[in-house]
Amino acid sequence: MAGNKTFTMIKPEAVAAGNMGKILDMVIASGFRVVALKYTRLSHSEAGSFYEVHKERPFYGELVDYMASGPIIAAVLEKDNAVLSFRDLIGATDPAQAAEGTIRKRFAESKAKNAVHGSDSDENAAIEAAFFFSGRERF
Ligand code: CMP
Repeated sequence: MAGNKTFTMIKPEAVAAGNMGKILDMVIASGFRVVALKYTRLSHSEAGSFYEVHKERPFYGELVDYMASGPIIAAVLEKDNAVLSFRDLIGATDPAQAAEGTIRKRFAESKAKNAVHGSDSDENAAIEAAFFFSGRERF
């Protein structure tokens, strides 16, 4: 059975552009409950660990530099079938391929600067949430 939690980050370019409120509004209006929320910044080595699964990919260095380039919002979200439902809301990784009405269509600049992260599985959602949040930071 699909789980009811996912993890997201609002990425540095979307935060710098002042779009965090609009993005959180879309998330909440789409029926997600905010379980945990944090305004923080990843160090270079933390960004490298977070995206370790991509370390063999050609874009890994660019991705890590970018994700450490400024503050982000991290959040744990709850909804039925959360991982898939959230991926529908954010749209394709490449904003040029993202459907109308999705967060990436509206706010992403490029494949790398794509406004938001969304977990790709229940297992990764749990790992990614634990990277940022202790039990007492979840409500
Ligand atoms: P995210 O959902 O955070 O998960 C992995 C990230 O890698 C992805 O969003 C993009 O920001 C980035 N990414 C994936 N493919 C590419 C690519 N071809 N070029 C640059 N960045 C990419």
